[in-house]
Amino acid sequence: MGKDVIIACDFPSGGEALAFLSNFRDEKPYVRVGMELFYASGAQIVREIKARGHKIFLDLKLHDIPNTVKSSMAVLSALDVDMVNLHAAGTRAMMEAALEGLMRPDGTRPLLIAVTQLTSTSQERMRDELLIDLPLEEVVLRYAENAAKSGLDGVVCSPLEAASVHSRCGSKFLTVTPGVRFADGDVGDQVRIATPARAKELGSDYIVVGRPITRAADPVEAYRRCVREFVG
Ligand code: C5P
Repeated sequence: MGKDVIIACDFPSGGEALAFLSNFRDEKPYVRVGMELFYASGAQIVREIKARGHKIFLDLKLHDIPNTVKSSMAVLSALDVDMVNLHAAGTRAMMEAALEGLMRPDGTRPLLIAVTQLTSTSQERMRDELLIDLPLEEVVLRYAENAAKSGLDGVVCSPLEAASVHSRCGSKFLTVTPGVRFADGDVGDQVRIATPARAKELGSDYIVVGRPITRAADPVEAYRRCVREFVG
């Protein structure tokens, strides 16, 4: 599976997202559509971005009973998206049901990626509020293993965790990694970060890059720089 750069299209409206994507004339970047854009513009924005020829990672992080997740995944799969995700905390029954729901009549399906522990969850909050006593890194790896055993394709994680996920779950198990910053760029609110080149060395399969591209003076050049550093 080839490495790719996914642009996090975090805009409050479909119009702004489409205006941003119109900057790209010679290439069709892989696009992440998250909750903000999806809740604002619904399935129509997904159809419009697909119609322009982009691949889409629909990042809605499903977490519900297996039957509900299965039928919801069938709806998302019919939008012809390329990658979707869910919370591994929903347990293996939910992950397996999600995979069934995603399968299209022609035997294809979007990639299915799990969120392990959100990067906003600290060791203390996990212990005191989620009542999980294990070290956070171990919980991330165990959840990744559950996802792999359920037949999922990979996890969302920090580039800094990509190597340990691969050694626990196999080199083909995908690591989709946000938290990417240029060496000379703004860090913003991200903490555990890596440059695109470092993410490549660490074994990330896909990097998800938002503000370093969307807020760049020249977004196309910033995207090309990511591709040069990460894909080579
Ligand atoms: O702007 P930036 O490059 O920080 O965007 C990263 C994207 O990846 C955002 O859409 C953010 O919501 C998402 N993300 C993240 N960390 C996670 C999961 C998703 O930054 N653990």
